[in-house]
Amino acid sequence: MFKSCVAALVAVLCGVSASVMAAEGEPFVIKFAHVVADDTPKGKGALLFQKLVHERLAGKVKVEVYPNSTLVGDAEEMQALLNNEVQILAPSLSKFGKYTKKLQVFDLPFLFDDEAAVQRFQKREMSRELLRSMADSGIYGLAYWNNGLKQLSATTALRLPADAAGLAFRVQPSSVLEAQFNAVGAKPVVLPFAEVYKSLQAGVVQGAENPWSNIASQNMHKVQPFITESNHGVLNYMLVTSSEFWMSMPFAVRSELEGIILEVTQAVNREAAALNQRDRERILASGSSKLIALTPEQRQAWREKMMPVWQSYESEIGADVIRAALTVNRKR
Ligand code: SIN
Repeated sequence: MFKSCVAALVAVLCGVSASVMAAEGEPFVIKFAHVVADDTPKGKGALLFQKLVHERLAGKVKVEVYPNSTLVGDAEEMQALLNNEVQILAPSLSKFGKYTKKLQVFDLPFLFDDEAAVQRFQKREMSRELLRSMADSGIYGLAYWNNGLKQLSATTALRLPADAAGLAFRVQPSSVLEAQFNAVGAKPVVLPFAEVYKSLQAGVVQGAENPWSNIASQNMHKVQPFITESNHGVLNYMLVTSSEFWMSMPFAVRSELEGIILEVTQAVNREAAALNQRDRERILASGSSKLIALTPEQRQAWREKMMPVWQSYESEIGADVIRAALTVNRKR
């Protein structure tokens, strides 16, 4: 009785509603839901997080992992987090537009020279600040997890921007990504990740943009005969929780979890490039898709068509954020 009164008092003092608190004597349950397969950078990261929490916080915290949109899909997951139906997510950085416009910086086409530049930006002070950019909505950013750079896939060979004109491309819910495809005369179609394969198969859309690991793990290469190695944009993640849930846990538990998250983040970000390279090789070995390698001139043509998108979104994202991102590129 005394303990439950103390817990209720702590909840009130910390501004945490009783609904997010673990029942007395029960572990905190963290439902970690995501939309990709286990054998991807994010999928592996979620399982490593579960394993380390089991080893170090048994009896205090229990992690349940739900991959492949089995608990919640990408269209509903943020609301599920705010309703405390799930406690950790790692949505693609393209899926936070409802809560902050600043993270759109990661969607700007051809902004980063390569994955190493993205990694450098994620370690800069500006990116640390962006982890807190959704605080007003009760969303707490914990870390950046890498997947990789996106490739264009389609039913026809895409060498020049004009080759994409008139084709429908599946995009994540990001107006920057819509603008990017509009810039080359293509038709962007927003679809949840779980529907991409069957929409490509049914011809609802003719193309998509994904890192190698998402193409391979969803078998998209089996319905996309051409993959252009464009590396035109980034698909990385932000590991998020709700501030209310996070603050409902005792400080010592949170500190241990934050240490685990740091360790898992380092593992995910160390291994993501190798997983994408492995999946690239698997796709090419399968013979299902033909690889289109762009000449420097062809890549420059895509860049020139898509780059005006930066200007259109500068006021929403903030010129300071874009400038900070550009400083991580090596001098040309
Ligand atoms: C993911 O990697 O989480 C899916 C991204 C997408 O919707 O394309």
